[in-house]
Amino acid sequence: MSGPCPTPHINAMPGDFAKTVLMPGDPLRSKFIAENFLEDRKLVNNVRGVQGYTGLYKGVPVSVMASGMGIPSIGIYSYELFHFFGVENILRVGSAGAMSDKLKVRDIVLGQGACTNSAYGEQYGFRGCFAPIADFGLLRSAAEIAEEMGLSYAVGNLFSSDTFYDDDPQASKAWMKLGVMAIEMEAAALYMNAARAGKKALAICTISDHLLTGEVTTAEERQTSFTQMMELALEVAVRN
Ligand code: HPA
Repeated sequence: MSGPCPTPHINAMPGDFAKTVLMPGDPLRSKFIAENFLEDRKLVNNVRGVQGYTGLYKGVPVSVMASGMGIPSIGIYSYELFHFFGVENILRVGSAGAMSDKLKVRDIVLGQGACTNSAYGEQYGFRGCFAPIADFGLLRSAAEIAEEMGLSYAVGNLFSSDTFYDDDPQASKAWMKLGVMAIEMEAAALYMNAARAGKKALAICTISDHLLTGEVTTAEERQTSFTQMMELALEVAVRN
């Protein structure tokens, strides 16, 4: 489907984005990825400072654009990329808080599914719960590449929360009982948009903090683990 390009949020035309878009939450990270990994890069969006770039990684066109924080924000950007800009794959590359004793900070979690407390899915009119899931091909590819790279990674359920500062300090406990591995704020909307559009998505998260141990990463650790996650996501982009 093509649509009203440029859109209110993306000042670009169809063809400006590659088949696969990496989406960090932070626009500065988008710039970092473009400047450090993409050759022949071109700025394709800068509305609201949400920088989108398209360039070449290992000779293959790849785009990167920030999602902003939270479900409404990634909901808008991923919707427009899937429906109006011909994008096929979106790889979220973000941070998450560990909710499992199987994880330690700097580990990578591949979001097989994404639970949420958001009302985002109500727009589809179903009764009951839809299970937002990653595309299996992207997930399998990411797991294989993580193995090849020797990364410490896990595959499991994410919890995409609408609140970072929740009034109930125990709010995440109920999700932990069901084995949900990590909390972040975007994956569920990305997976629902991909499902509705018949497209593919995967959320790759680095554990930046630990809800059980209180452990946090230093700025330097975040930079190193972020770079590894980028290399993983870029390799997934090249192979899919
Ligand atoms: N909550 C929500 N999102 C997050 C967190 C968290 O604790 N850590 C990293 N992203």
